[in-house]
Amino acid sequence: MLFIVVHNGIITNYRELKTLLKTKGYTFSSDTDTEIIAKLFKYCYEEDNEMEFYQLTKKVLYQLQGSYGLMVKSVYYPNEVIATRKGSPLLIGVKSHQKLKVDFVDVEFINENNEATFSTNPEVSIRRSESRAVLPDSNVPVEYFISSDASSVIEHTKKVIFLEDDDIAHMDCGELRIHRARKSAGLSTTRPVQTLEMELGEIMKGGYDHFMMKEIFEQPDSTFNTMRGRVDFKNKTVTLGGIKDYLTSIRRSRRFQMIACGTSYHSCLAVRSLFEELTGVPVSVDLASDFLDRSPPIFRDDTIVFVSQSGETADSMQCLKYCRAAGALTVGVVNSVGSSISRDTDCGVHINAGPEIGVASTKAYTSQYIALVMIALQISNHVITNAQRHREIIEGLAEIPKKIEKVLKQDKFIKQVSEKVFKLVN
Ligand code: UD1
Repeated sequence: MLFIVVHNGIITNYRELKTLLKTKGYTFSSDTDTEIIAKLFKYCYEEDNEMEFYQLTKKVLYQLQGSYGLMVKSVYYPNEVIATRKGSPLLIGVKSHQKLKVDFVDVEFINENNEATFSTNPEVSIRRSESRAVLPDSNVPVEYFISSDASSVIEHTKKVIFLEDDDIAHMDCGELRIHRARKSAGLSTTRPVQTLEMELGEIMKGGYDHFMMKEIFEQPDSTFNTMRGRVDFKNKTVTLGGIKDYLTSIRRSRRFQMIACGTSYHSCLAVRSLFEELTGVPVSVDLASDFLDRSPPIFRDDTIVFVSQSGETADSMQCLKYCRAAGALTVGVVNSVGSSISRDTDCGVHINAGPEIGVASTKAYTSQYIALVMIALQISNHVITNAQRHREIIEGLAEIPKKIEKVLKQDKFIKQVSEKVFKLVN
């Protein structure tokens, strides 16, 4: 392991990169896009091993498409760490017992001659030797925490630097510098060291009074995340890595059975007609508890879809055991990666909505609905007569995040209307 990569997000051109690396003799031990990043680092390093770690990172990022929050370490660069992002959140917590000398970090730009320089803005321009980076006193250690979310850092430190897209943070023997992967006009030339004022509970609520409120307002992002890397809006196609190897068996099914509890059950009800329209296969929807009471016959050529936010719903888990024993193909639609349903189903789709803490489901519901629509599209995409309808649906999916945003902007107005209606009812 010459390069170690921690990756949050998705690399959309990973197939092309994999093909390229294979032609250069590289072999792969997983199907993940993350492994491609590590191998690409190695490939670029072997092409030119004189580069500094951040320069190598720049070269690698130039090849990557998609969204990512990355942390990279390497045996070639001992005591150094890289953190960089594009489209995925990333921050650096800074912990030191000594007061930090600066409350911001300058961004180092690259000029035409490929030399590192600071901003061209004369007010903030300083020479490299005077870099306002985080430079610790050698006797007082400084610790850095790299994370996508402030809530995981706050127990260690309240001082954080939020990285911008294309920032490359380079930590080298305790020194932190920020470089840019590419030029972008109009972006601030410093990254402030911010103090998180809020307490842990509040941070996690992101400034909202309740988790439920936060999760409602997250929906423009969460719905997009469900589709990210899966729906190709340009070519109007859907590819779900989680079920593509099982499509032949799924398409052979004579019926689909959806099993869920609570709000997840409602997402199944909401999608049923579209599912039947696209697949031409009858779909039954059952509450897990009711299904268990009846213990209905299940056949080997049935496909059973289990929908659950947590992936741990006890009744659904029992139904899963029952259906597996009957030899049916089981498909999960869950939010929690590594949960029981996610592990015990034959295949499935993670809805990638992010943790849902509010008991009443909000963003998980919208993402479940979208995931189920994507499944129906993927199952039925071999039927040529469906093509036009597929295009319409994918165009509709593309608009969902913006439309939700528009509705959420009306929150004050909706509150006023609700107050009026509520008074009338009383
Ligand atoms: C996966 C990776 C994602 C990576 C992408 C690259 C995971 C969790 N996801 O996403 O990080 O960027 O490949 O192509 O590592 N599964 C079940 N039951 C379920 C849900 C999922 O068996 O209820 C299985 C799927 O069949 C699949 C795996 O879990 O084998 C991951 O599913 P999912 O995250 O939906 O797959 P991708 O979107 O391809």
